[in-house]
Amino acid sequence: MKNYVIIISGRGSNMEALLTANLPGRCAAVISNRPAAAGLVYAARQGVATVVVDHKAYPDRAAFDAALAAEVERHQPDLVLLAGFMRILSPAFVRRFAGRMLNIHPSLLPAFPGLRTHAQALENGVRLHGCTVHFVTPDLDTGPIVIQAAVPVLDDDTPESLAARVLAEEHRIYPQAARWFLEGCLHVDGLCVRLSRPGPIPAALSFPVG
Ligand code: GAR
Repeated sequence: MKNYVIIISGRGSNMEALLTANLPGRCAAVISNRPAAAGLVYAARQGVATVVVDHKAYPDRAAFDAALAAEVERHQPDLVLLAGFMRILSPAFVRRFAGRMLNIHPSLLPAFPGLRTHAQALENGVRLHGCTVHFVTPDLDTGPIVIQAAVPVLDDDTPESLAARVLAEEHRIYPQAARWFLEGCLHVDGLCVRLSRPGPIPAALSFPVG
């Protein structure tokens, strides 16, 4: 059975969606860079091994990334899932897990990389906003896109209300992307990801762009 590792920084709702999705693999560990991350409590309750690699305990990014990479490697993952991990990873770290590391980002990339994505969507007057699961490459929020889901932006939206609508879609598409990866269905071709799976893409995905 394939192994995966989830890396979080906080609440862990995407991690929870992954852990409850009955993925065809085993979660070897949930790792957090923040000792107080709420997601650690949930993971431990589910019987998943939890580990803290506290970025504050390291003198610089290179040292933290080396320690994080060593911890991840220890679990020999086939797949690394960044789920609300809020630190920029060095190119050396990303190269080490190239082709087997996914991230969820709360915007329809390539629009709105970085932070404050929901506020940016409102400031820019977009009518559709959403979320993206992509392979992680050294440049921030730019890797090959696996699946996206779009939601309407409503006139009375606040960043919070929009975030909540997007988060519900995150919880749906991240487990789907992880499942496809663990089933060996994802093939990266430059910036594009091809999906080889028997049968059509599930009807529920016909509105989200996937
Ligand atoms: C999620 O909305 C995720 O997309 C975002 O942080 C939130 C974490 O929530 N990630 C990023 O912004 C990464 N750049 P969660 O801890 O409840 O999953």
